[in-house]
Amino acid sequence: MKKVPISFKAYSIFLTVCASALLFYLVSATPRLSWQHILLFGLLIWLAESFGIDLPKVGAVSVSFALLYAAILLLGPASAALAALSTAVVWRDIKERSSFYRWLANGSLAILDTGIAGLVYLYAHGPILMVKGLSYSDFPWILIPFTLCAAAYFLINSSLVSMGIGFLEDVSPVNIWLFDCKWAIPNYFALAPLGVILAQIYVKTGPAGIILLIAPLLIARQTFQVYMELRGAYMGTVKSLVVAVEAKDPYTRGHSERVAEYAEKIARQLHLPEEKIETLKYAALLHDVGKIGITRKILSKTGKLTHAEYRKVKEHPEIGVAIIREIEFLKEVVPAIFHHHERVDGSGYVDGTKGEMIPLMARILAVADSYDAMISARPYRPALDQETVIEELTTYSGSQWDKILVNALMIGLGLNANPREGEKRKGQMSLVGYI
Ligand SMILES: [Fe+2]
Ligand SMILES: [Fe+2]
Repeated sequence: MKKVPISFKAYSIFLTVCASALLFYLVSATPRLSWQHILLFGLLIWLAESFGIDLPKVGAVSVSFALLYAAILLLGPASAALAALSTAVVWRDIKERSSFYRWLANGSLAILDTGIAGLVYLYAHGPILMVKGLSYSDFPWILIPFTLCAAAYFLINSSLVSMGIGFLEDVSPVNIWLFDCKWAIPNYFALAPLGVILAQIYVKTGPAGIILLIAPLLIARQTFQVYMELRGAYMGTVKSLVVAVEAKDPYTRGHSERVAEYAEKIARQLHLPEEKIETLKYAALLHDVGKIGITRKILSKTGKLTHAEYRKVKEHPEIGVAIIREIEFLKEVVPAIFHHHERVDGSGYVDGTKGEMIPLMARILAVADSYDAMISARPYRPALDQETVIEELTTYSGSQWDKILVNALMIGLGLNANPREGEKRKGQMSLVGYI
């Protein structure tokens, strides 16, 4: 089990206090709770949540919103919040033995988002459908409480979940919201009408009617599943290309993964959006894929490369682009791979592009790639010690690498710069060769 950060523990306790106060208020303001409906919806919501789909970063999405929404419209905020409480410990939590604080946070979140959305619905004059079913005369005005309720649920749920994940993973909640939650908005608005239909059928036919609606819910789940599997297949393609390069060049084993790790550290310091970070990681994993087209003899040569051999090595960014150009989902990483050996002073290869004309991802890769090259042993030299690495980075920041990005990496890695060392060899070429 992963260690739970103290900030997340505090957040869970804070949510629990708020949720308990809200639940107390809701229950005491409700004259009679209908437990058989609460238990039935609790069970259905638990099943839907338990078999949700994992999201790319962290967390999961499920079709349980349709059921939760139906519970709010049918039973009102107090009963809906009690039914939603079943999601505190879902199947995946049992399987993964999630921490107690996660249970607390999940349970409290369920009460807060369902309870507040339910209150919004009541204050917007939404009727409790178990008491008074829908009729044609309710339209179109009924759409106002329906919409406000769904919007309140989405805003509260997505914000509180993003904050929780932010504390858990130590990443910006805004990035999480944009990457994981933003694209779920259409899903919420597609599931809300389903929730209304579900509620109305429940009023007319009782629990049996819900079974009729299981099919569309399963199809919605399947759509998510396919989308997530596709993402998994993309990563699989990238990983097999990485394996192919590393089989060819054993000295760079693990290099691509480490470059991806350092590139991510730089990107996080720059607060790049999650989508960009994801693309950058693909680019980092594949930056040297073109080495597939270079002979093993050259790649593992321990002595100095001849001019002709070095010329061949310098072709690897172009070969890499030729390999991945036709793969649709990798289109965005092409410029980063093509330019990852450019230098900001224009003396790099492939085409000597300068400064900010070099794509940002390529500049990030250049720093991450060189850093890993320096700290790893190569066939032609041993690994450099930390002091030399810092000296190299400081000296050639601004000529070989983008200054801001070097700083970002040093901050990300907790390295301390020694500016005096950097001054000594300004204007000379770097001691270290990177291919
Ligand atoms: Fe390279
Ligand atoms: Fe590399």
